[in-house]
Amino acid sequence: MSDGSRRQFSSLSLTVYPKEVESEARVVKAPKLWPTIIQGGMGVGLSNWNLAKEVSRTGELGVVSGTAVDTVIARRLQNGDEGGHIRRALSHFPSQVIAERILTRYFRAEPRKKDETYMLVPKPSITPSREALEIVIASNFVEVWLAKEGHEGIVGINYLEKIQMATAPAVLGAMLAGVDYILMGAGIPREIPRLIREFAAGQAGSIHIDVIGATDPHLLTVDPTEIFGDELPVLKAPKFIAIVSTDILASYLAKDEATKPDGFVVEGHRAGGHNAPPRGKMNLNESNEPIYGDRDEPNLAKMVALGTPFWLAGAYGHPDMVASALELGAQGVQVGTLFALSEDSGLRADIRNQLLREIGLDHLRVYTDPAASPTGFPIKVAQLEGTLSDGEVSENRYALCDMGYLRTPFLNPNGRIDYRCAGEPADMYIKKGGNVEDLHGRECLCNGLTANIGLGQHRRSGYDEPAIVTLGSDTEGTKIMLESYPQGFSAREAVEWLMRTKANLQK
Ligand SMILES: Cc1cc2nc3c(=O)[nH]c(=O)nc-3n(C[C@H](O)[C@H](O)[C@H](O)COP(=O)(O)O)c2cc1C
Repeated sequence: MSDGSRRQFSSLSLTVYPKEVESEARVVKAPKLWPTIIQGGMGVGLSNWNLAKEVSRTGELGVVSGTAVDTVIARRLQNGDEGGHIRRALSHFPSQVIAERILTRYFRAEPRKKDETYMLVPKPSITPSREALEIVIASNFVEVWLAKEGHEGIVGINYLEKIQMATAPAVLGAMLAGVDYILMGAGIPREIPRLIREFAAGQAGSIHIDVIGATDPHLLTVDPTEIFGDELPVLKAPKFIAIVSTDILASYLAKDEATKPDGFVVEGHRAGGHNAPPRGKMNLNESNEPIYGDRDEPNLAKMVALGTPFWLAGAYGHPDMVASALELGAQGVQVGTLFALSEDSGLRADIRNQLLREIGLDHLRVYTDPAASPTGFPIKVAQLEGTLSDGEVSENRYALCDMGYLRTPFLNPNGRIDYRCAGEPADMYIKKGGNVEDLHGRECLCNGLTANIGLGQHRRSGYDEPAIVTLGSDTEGTKIMLESYPQGFSAREAVEWLMRTKANLQK
């Protein structure tokens, strides 16, 4: 990139840009039509631009997490934007006026001290302010732009359908950075193909927002022209991959051109992160984990018959499983846990080391918690001392909802839209009409997952928000990798290992 094309900000403190990342970041292999390996999106900030870029440079699909990425970027800026990466990316943002507003608000040339509280970004809402839209659009842009910088590989971004209020501006931001794939799970992502088409045509894009108790539809619309005016570039339409747990949902989405994605990730219940609940009534085993049965197994013959490319996920992080997925007619696999534990992910080093130690000793237990997530979906939680999986740590935390990504809008008795989250203080939740049964065992995922990547909130009282770690229940691949790489492994080494059987098959 020549200096001439790099726009400068007027404010003195903001004008120093680090040099562009140059040729050492060149892609090694040309991207294929479809990747064999998708590095799964992992929020909050665990699959960051660095991890996605490393995977992307191998010729496979690196995916950044779009969940709460506005908080991630705002907090990195408050910590002084080490390496200048965010400012470098923002210098390529189509509107320098917006970029400057964001830097003025969040960037601290003198980084925030450890005992200072982070300034929050606006909570997602059904009527986002201009400020809220700008930080969501810009942060999605930044994370994708950095993952794509300096190579020709393909990059995707992952969203959760449940976080509907952030989706439209987030997709716009990612498309402004030329994202190649959008992946979405945790719900029925029927509107994303249309949203992508709307933005690619330079039109306003909308998403329906589920408002509990409302009979009228509620739309959240973002008009790129209104935000960027003449500075709006032509936007390329990325491919869309829906993450589903059953062939039934895949068939439903595929049967209508309006909702049909370009591909599916079929994710089983051993996967890290949130899991789809078992079909039918949820029964729990003696350890209080959901019981999954045959009805929860996707019919892969039906997936093949759909004729749309698909990838298998959930305990597929092993070369034999890659080979088996290919034999079953899949395009490849999506892997999370192995990449989360690689040294390129955003996971805090102390947490990674603790996890690797326990995996090496066969001590780590990953619990499928049916209650912890305010979304109501089961979530896998690694049982780790000092994190929210530790009963005492969880009991000592004051319930508080200050980030609000998992809030649900509802119509209050006055006919106004209000928001509630089962992770907020019980009295407030009940006062807002929430069900007392929803509260049992809930944790604040927003704060906990943000603490995983070293960006946890520090309260004025001196309290540091504890982490909560999600991992898949299959850690065998990580254990095998540790035998070859006792000091830890990179994302590239993980890809090379996963592709080993396929490479042998092709010889
Ligand atoms: C730490 C972690 C966080 C995750 N977060 C998300 C997420 O935000 N969105 C999502 O769609 N999937 C998420 N996942 C699921 C992964 O993208 C992937 O599908 C899954 O991990 C595959 O199973 P495996 O862990 O057995 O490899 C997460 C997984 C892990 C391990």
